[in-house]
This record gives sequence, structure tokens and C-alpha cells, in this order.
Amino acid sequence: MPLQSKPEMKTNGRVLIADDQPDVLEALRLMLKGEGFEIETAHSPAGILAAIEARDFDVVLMDLNYTRDTTSGQEGLDLLARVQSMDATVPVVVMTAWGTVDIAVEAMRRGARDFIQKPWDNARLLTIVRTQVELSAALKRGQRLEAENRLLRTDGRPTMIAESPAMQPVLQLIARVGPSDANVLITGEPGTGKEVVARTLYAVSSRSSKPMVTVNAGGLAEGIFESELFGHVKGAFTDAKTDRVGRFELADGGTLFLDEIANVPMNLQAKLLRVLEIGEMERVGSSRTKRVDARVISATNANLADEVANNRFRQDLLFRLNTIEIHLPALRERREDIPVLASHFLSTHARRYRKDLTSFDHPAMQALLENPWQGNVRELNHVIERAVLMAQDKVVRTGDLALRSSSPSSARLEEMSLEEVEAFLIKKALARYNGNVSHAANALGLSRSALYRRLERYGL
Ligand SMILES: Nc1ncnc2c1ncn2[C@@H]1O[C@H](COP(=O)(O)OP(=O)(O)OP(=O)(O)O)[C@@H](O)[C@H]1O
Ligand SMILES: [Mg+2]
Repeated sequence: MPLQSKPEMKTNGRVLIADDQPDVLEALRLMLKGEGFEIETAHSPAGILAAIEARDFDVVLMDLNYTRDTTSGQEGLDLLARVQSMDATVPVVVMTAWGTVDIAVEAMRRGARDFIQKPWDNARLLTIVRTQVELSAALKRGQRLEAENRLLRTDGRPTMIAESPAMQPVLQLIARVGPSDANVLITGEPGTGKEVVARTLYAVSSRSSKPMVTVNAGGLAEGIFESELFGHVKGAFTDAKTDRVGRFELADGGTLFLDEIANVPMNLQAKLLRVLEIGEMERVGSSRTKRVDARVISATNANLADEVANNRFRQDLLFRLNTIEIHLPALRERREDIPVLASHFLSTHARRYRKDLTSFDHPAMQALLENPWQGNVRELNHVIERAVLMAQDKVVRTGDLALRSSSPSSARLEEMSLEEVEAFLIKKALARYNGNVSHAANALGLSRSALYRRLERYGL
């Protein structure tokens, strides 16, 4: 076998050689190093274990006898078991003295991958080492892929709590249309979980192995929105120094999540419509037509029908986007979910802030159940996060929640007198119309003068 070193620096694999005879170690080290392997050596069982503890090897090549006067190999078999318990995947090739094939066979039975008899044949030894390095790399690749898949499975599909009756239609729709390629429009007040639903739809879709590319139409200035979505070519405008791939192209074969879709400027809606209808688009500044195939999931907290009526949104585009519409009820319409959501957020934040908190006391839970939750699930999440930081005991108490109790909730409304309710509603209407009496009166179904009389009566 040639002993010259290979020119390239890249290692062919990391090998641990273990033998108690220095001349054997040295011969093997030189030969394998010459073949491009990175070598570490050990000359005792303790040395082997220390090396394996310190780093990953692609192959361990080890002798089975370390005490000169024994050839039983028992010591080597014990050592093999220790190595395997420290690193279950590293391939171990054992070396035995001539004439002790039975020990080698026993070692193989116990998980060694191959064996070499001394004196060894260089060519055969090299073949064995190379094969084991390749197998080990393949095994590691496989494990990494599996780990990535697992990660994607748990990480890619967000926690979605939906136990209330009001959420059952949502779950059914996700199950039914998730796997299809249908475009889905998700609507609902801010913080109701539209993004959670979008991610869940994507996770259960047949396109889940391809990326989901997100564009937030609310967060982009009108000027850059077009190139963000469709890309541009160099020189298309002053700042276009290089070609740029847009999100639509990035999502080709996969999923495009258009968040806050109501904010897409009118002049771009036509271009968007065309991609959705015929799957064709051009980069800004280019006349070359590109084909893209993206499933579009969109979300908005606006009422798109109103936007259409007010000429701010194209009706034909709306019809393209809402092949299926999933509407998320406000949290106040699904109070049954509050305890489960609250416990989920409590355990998440308690873990994050390393606090030993497991539950809410009864009044605290009652307060959570009665709160109006204008900001929906997001507000609940924030309230619990703050409570976790504030809490002094093992349970969360009402005070920790720091809920604003300015306006009476509907539960307390029932305990008010008719006059108190009237005054409350008038105050609310005035606040909503910034103190404009005519508008407030209109909204309350009263004449201006009737409203003025009441304002006087209630001292408002
Ligand atoms: N059903 C749910 N289960 C668990 N967590 C949820 C659920 N719904 C919402 N959340 C959480 O509440 C927060 C807000 O949700 P999300 O961002 O999806 O709302 P959104 O409807 O997209 O809001 P916006 O309109 O403001 O963009 C996130 O932290 C999300 O993880
Ligand atoms: Mg959102």
C-alpha cells in the first residue's frame, strides 16, 4: 500500500486506533493518515473511553487484548460494551491475534461491525475502514434527517387550542381543505389566531415539505411591495443594483402566506390576480414571463366585502382568494377555550422564566373568564406572561393579572340598574365618536335633544 499523503486537506473520516503495542499503533497511524484519515490513538481501555467521551469518531479500530498475558478477549468484549453504551452509533472494528477467530465472532455477535486478524493485510483493512466510514456517514445523515423531520413535525405545526363548540367548524374546515391546494382566506379580529391557522393548514398540506413563504402586506411600504412580491431585475429602478427573486418565485411549488391582504395597494391587485388566475408573472423591469405554482393562504382582520363596496379591494381578487373562507370567532365568543389557553400560556411562560407556577386560584380564573378580551388570544397570552413575572406565590392570583376593570363586563351589566346601563351606553357611544353628540345620538337611536337631556340628567 502506498504511504504517501494525499494532497487535499479534507479528511476522509476520523478514526480512533487502540492497541497496547506502540509499534502496531504507529504502523496503523501512518498508513491510515497516508490515506487521508484523521487519526487519534489510545493504548489503554481508559484511553479509549476518554477519547470517545471527548469527540465523535467515524470508526473505532480496536484491539481486544490489553493485558499482555491474557488472550481470552473478555476484557475486549467488556470494553466493546462500554464503547457502545457511550456512543451507540460509532462503528467498532475489532482486531484479534491470529488464531482467535472465535473471539472475533463473539465480538461481532455483540455489535462489532467487522474484524481484522493480525498480522493484517493493508488492503483489506483499508477497505473495511472505508466501508465503515461511509456507512457511519449515511447513518448519521439519516438520523439528522429524521431529527429534522421530527422538528418540523412538532415545530412546524403550532399548538392550536380549539375545544370550544365555536371552534369546531374551524377545525373541520382545516381538516377538510388543509390537504388540498385550494386557496384559503382566514378572517377574524386581531389576535384571534389567523397565523396559527395558516401554519396549521400548511403543516397538514401536501406541500408541507416545501417552504411556506410569508409576505406581510401591512408591513411593507407601497414602493417596495411590488418588488418584494414579484422580484425585480437589475436596473429596474434606481436602487435595483442586482436581480432579486420575489416571494412568489420563492414559494414556487410551495405555499405563499399573504398576511394583512387588505393592505395590498389597488394597483398591485390586478397583477396579483393574474398570478392567481393563470400562474404567470414578470419580475419588475422584465418582460420575461415566469410560471409560478403557489398555494395561497391569505389573512385579514378587515371586512373585505366592505372594502370591495368602498372600491378599495377588487371583487375578482376576493373571489380568487376566498375559495374557502375560515372565520375565527373572537375569544369572547368561545370562552370555553379560556381555561385551556390560559394553562397552556402559563406553562410556556413559567418554563421560559423558570418560575414554579402551575395554576390560577379560583378568583383569578373567574376574572379571566369574564374579561372582555378585545385583543383576543394575543392579549390573553400577554396578560399571562406578565402575571408569571409578577406572581409571588405558586399560584397566579387576580392581582397578578392586572386586568383593566374600567368597563363593566356583560356579566356585571346584569347587576346594574336601567339608569346605570343607559349612562354606561351613552358614555361608550360618546367615546366611540370622540364626543360628537350628533353621531352618538344617531348610533343610540335618539334625537340630539333627547341625548342632551340625558347628558344633563346623568351629569355627563
Ligand atoms: N388557538 C390557539 N391556540 C394556541 N395559541 C393561540 C391560538 N390562537 C392564537 N394563539 C396565540 O395567540 C397569539 C396571536 O395569534 P396570531 O398571531 O395567529 O393572531 P392573528 O389573528 O394573526 O393576529 P393579527 O390579526 O394581529 O395578525 C400568538 O402568540 C398565537 O400563538
Ligand atoms: Mg397575524
